[in-house]
Order: sequence, then structure tokens, then C-alpha cells
Amino acid sequence: MVNFFDDHTLLVQHGHGKSTAQSELTFVDLTLLLLFLVALLLLLLAWSNDARVNGDGRQCEHNPAPKPRPHAVSILEFGAVGDGKTLNTIAFQNAIFYLKSFADKGGAQLYVPPGTWLTQSFNLTSHLTLFLEKGANILGSQDPFQWEVVDPLPSYGRGVEVPGGRYQSLINGYMLRDVVITDSSDHVCIEDCQIATGYDAISLKSGWDEYGIAYGRPTENVHIRRVHLQAHSGSTIAFGSDMSGGISNILVENAHIYNSDSGIEFRTMRGRGGYMKEIIVSDIEMENIYTAIAATGYCGSHPDDKFDPNALPLLDHIILQDMRGTNITIAGNFAGLQESPFTNICLSNITLSLNSLSSITWKCSNVYGFSDSVLPKPCPDLETLSNCLTLMSINGKTAVM
Ligand SMILES: *[C@@H]1O[C@H](CO)[C@@H](O)[C@H](O)[C@H]1NC(C)=O
Ligand SMILES: *[C@@H]1O[C@H](CO)[C@@H](O)[C@H](O)[C@H]1NC(C)=O
Ligand SMILES: *[C@@H]1O[C@H](CO)[C@@H](O)[C@H](O)[C@H]1NC(C)=O
Repeated sequence: MVNFFDDHTLLVQHGHGKSTAQSELTFVDLTLLLLFLVALLLLLLAWSNDARVNGDGRQCEHNPAPKPRPHAVSILEFGAVGDGKTLNTIAFQNAIFYLKSFADKGGAQLYVPPGTWLTQSFNLTSHLTLFLEKGANILGSQDPFQWEVVDPLPSYGRGVEVPGGRYQSLINGYMLRDVVITDSSDHVCIEDCQIATGYDAISLKSGWDEYGIAYGRPTENVHIRRVHLQAHSGSTIAFGSDMSGGISNILVENAHIYNSDSGIEFRTMRGRGGYMKEIIVSDIEMENIYTAIAATGYCGSHPDDKFDPNALPLLDHIILQDMRGTNITIAGNFAGLQESPFTNICLSNITLSLNSLSSITWKCSNVYGFSDSVLPKPCPDLETLSNCLTLMSINGKTAVM
């Protein structure tokens, strides 16, 4: 297995008004965190079948301020030392074990004061607030031998990668309810974060081929805003390629993405089934990105040879708007499947300034959509008649036409 330790650093920055706290987490695999978030989402959110991206996608605005927990302890009470050298795994594990007993009493808060708290992986528990004070950094152990190798997550019928073990994520949880990390939210709202990874910074997924189809759990109603993302050799915001349970009603707004291989990317492939639809990505500032926008129907692998080659994925009703980019090499690369072209890809108010390395600006096949005020000018495939005008006027801020 590859050594992830140099690359997978997640910087989470929590900002509320002027006060910001920074926590440095070293993640073995951010995907696990996302799966965990997705699992939380599924537990917490009711099914919504609205045909458009609507207020329900605005989880960040719906969240009431989290109720203060009736019980609180500091990690110091468990003997932790925030010097960046002392290993605090036992302290975190004991603290959380202790706080478990408050689950039926309104839950509890674990307070982490300023300092660098070196630890191995630990598990969260339900009804817990992990409160990172400004200046509190949780630092994952840098020694690969200190990372537990675990089975793939049981969700979605089959793990997202190849079968077999993988390193556990730094902060880990299974079947949790009512968990708050710092004072942000208890729905799927990802906000005020700074995330830098070797591969994808944020990736939304919902299951792999026949296993994901059988499991049938969509990822929906996710709101991501005010994030700073860097994905050195991956995508800053990735959808799929495991999306067999469906991904819909997603709102991404106000993101700064930089120094990355790809900006916004939709990935899928034959055999996945499922859908990615009703997704709005808006107010994006990009710098030093190789491919700004990408959608491919030829990405990923199959869990085994039992996948159904006729299970075609759907990519439809995607609104990308209000984006500026500098030092971009390829503006957009769209490669839909012939039998299931990408539809209603709606682009508006996008200005990308390309560097001199560009030999192609836009590349399109099996994609249909519409563009308004997009520079450089996209391929004709993205200037076709579509429902984009209606979709953008319902969903988007802009209906300039
Ligand atoms: C954390 O949870 C996983 C299962 O999700 C389990 O295998 C592991 O032993 C737990 N670790 C601790 C320290 O409780
Ligand atoms: C432009 O972006 C590329 C990454 O796509 C990066 O390697 C290069 O250093 C950037 N150039 C400048 C002038 O920032
Ligand atoms: C176009 O997008 C930029 C952000 O990239 C935004 O500042 C501007 O207001 C948008 N223009 C319109 C007409 O919405």
C-alpha cells in the first residue's frame, strides 16, 4: 500500500466572524471522512424528492446554533499534553469512552485547548461535540506503524476502493448520531474549512456499482461554502466516481480553489447506474488549476466482474456559475457516455484565463448544455438548446439572458 503520510494533510479552519481556529489533521484517507459524513447525512436527513436544488440544499443556513451540551470536559483532564510530541491517543480514547455515558443525558463536549495534540486514530461517539479552541491542532501520528489497518467501511455493500484493509482515518466514527465538530453544525454542512490534500479535497460519493445500486442510499442535501481547497493531484471538489446510490441537491458556493490538478470534477462510468443531478456550484475563485471543470464517464474501476454493463449513470441538471480562474491549463473537459450523454450542463458567468501551456481550451463529447457569458468560448455542444434557461432562472442567481 502506498504511504499516504506525506501528502494527506487536512487543514480545517473554523471561522466565526473574526475569530478563527486552526486545526491540523493528518488524514490517511479523506474519503473515509466523507463516507462518515455521508453516513451522518443519511441518518440525519429526511428524504426529499424535490425536482430542483432548493432551500433544502442550504443546510448551512438551516442549522440552528448547536445546543450547548450539559456536560463538558477538557482533554487536559485525561492527561493530554499539547506539545506536539506526546502521544495523546489514550487520552482521546479515554475521554470519549467517559463521555459515552452522557449520551442519554443530552450529550457532552470534549474541549481541546490551544496546542498541538499528537494522536493516533480515535473513534467518536454519538451525542458528542468535539470543540477545538482557536489554536488547537490535532496532529495525526507520522509513524505508519501506529496506524491501524481496518476493513473497508461496511456502508454501501462494498468498500470504495479495492477489497482488503486500509488505514483508519484519524477521526473515525460508525453509525453515529448528533455529532458536532467544533461549533459548526449537525447537518451536512461543510463550511469555513481549509483543506489541503494529496488527492481529492472534498469528495461526495454514494456507492460502487452493483453493491451501491443494491444498497440504494443517495447522498443529498449537502451544502458546502466558504472553503479553501487544494488537491495537489486530485480534484478540489469531486463527485463520484462511486455514485451508484445517486447524488443530488448539492450546493457549493464561495470556494477558493488553488494549486490543484482539477477544480470541479464529476466522475462516473458504465456499470455505476445512479445519478448526479441538481447540483449548483457557484462563486468559485480558481488559481493554478490544470483542468478547471471536468466531467467524465470513463473514470474508475469495477469492484468485480459482476457489475451490470447496462447500468448507465445519469449526469443531468448541473449549474456552474460565477467563476473566475487564473493560470488554468484546460478550461473544461467533458466526456459523456454515448448511450447516456451528460445533459443540461448549464454554465454562466465564467471567465478563465488560460496559461500558455494550453493546447486545448474545451473538449466535449456526448454532452449537451448551454453557456452564457463564458470565456473562453466553450464547445458548441455546450451551446445547445436545453432546459438550462429554465433551470438557471429557477435555481441560479443569474438569469441574464
Ligand atoms: C474504532 O472503531 C472501529 C470500528 O468502527 C473498531 O474496529 C476499533 O477497534 C475502534 N477503536 C477503538 C480504539 O475503540
Ligand atoms: C500555474 O499552474 C501550474 C499548475 O497547473 C503551476 O505548476 C504553475 O507553477 C503555475 N504558474 C504560476 C506562474 O503560478
Ligand atoms: C460573475 O461572477 C463574479 C464572480 O466570479 C461575480 O463577482 C459577479 O457578480 C458575477 N456577475 C453577475 C452578473 O452575476
